[in-house]
Amino acid sequence: MINFNIFIVTEIKYIESTPSTNILAKEQDEEGVIYVAHSQTQGRGQRGTTWESEPYKNLTFSFVIKPGNLTLYDQFYISKYVSMAVIDTLRHYKLDVTIKWPNDIYVGNNKICGILIENDVSGSARIMRSVVGIGINVNQINFTSNIPNPISMANVLGKEIDIKEIMVKFSEFHDKWYSLLKRREFEIIDVEYFNSLFRLNTIHKFKDKEGLLEGKITNVLPTGELIIEKKNGKRSLYLFKEVEYIL
Ligand code: BTN
Repeated sequence: MINFNIFIVTEIKYIESTPSTNILAKEQDEEGVIYVAHSQTQGRGQRGTTWESEPYKNLTFSFVIKPGNLTLYDQFYISKYVSMAVIDTLRHYKLDVTIKWPNDIYVGNNKICGILIENDVSGSARIMRSVVGIGINVNQINFTSNIPNPISMANVLGKEIDIKEIMVKFSEFHDKWYSLLKRREFEIIDVEYFNSLFRLNTIHKFKDKEGLLEGKITNVLPTGELIIEKKNGKRSLYLFKEVEYIL
């Protein structure tokens, strides 16, 4: 049987401490190497926030991909494939995880993993390089920052998990999903991402620029916009940060 998988993760490098693994991965610029830090001194979250992680307790790691054949139009597939690799990893540990659009990973109403993707785009609108940074809450029990709803694997499972073992599992699932992306098997990625969405097809409260609304998530467009169907049947399309979930 021909094996179409592209095993892109060639090495997992553990570092004691670094300001942010995203900065480190970007500086090194090597595809196939995952940089894992036991401690980050300036861990970064989305839109200028900070990422809390107690040293040695969690997984904070980053890597560079150079997908080559992706354009700006396809860029949301990076979020999708990375989310699915994390979802499969956490499901391996029997966690009931979903994706809170666009790419937060949740257990129930709590965030267990955050993903920060930084793309470099060429003049011809191609994605030249992406730096993918992932923070999975593993063995931390108490969270002190004002992020409202963090949770860890240990909080849910009631036991500590071996961090290096999770890292190896992630690299396996990464290669599966990355090879689908490389082969442009977008339909498979779309279906699995869609089926894993948090609050899919059920009525919930949201907030947009006009105020509170009730509706259900019915779709995510290939370009990443979220579609919410309101109770009156009207559909709205949202870009990242144009709508807030009421948890
Ligand atoms: C979010 O705000 O949800 C994104 C959090 C991303 C955190 C990870 S931890 C590893 C990598 N290095 C960083 O500085 N941030 C990302």
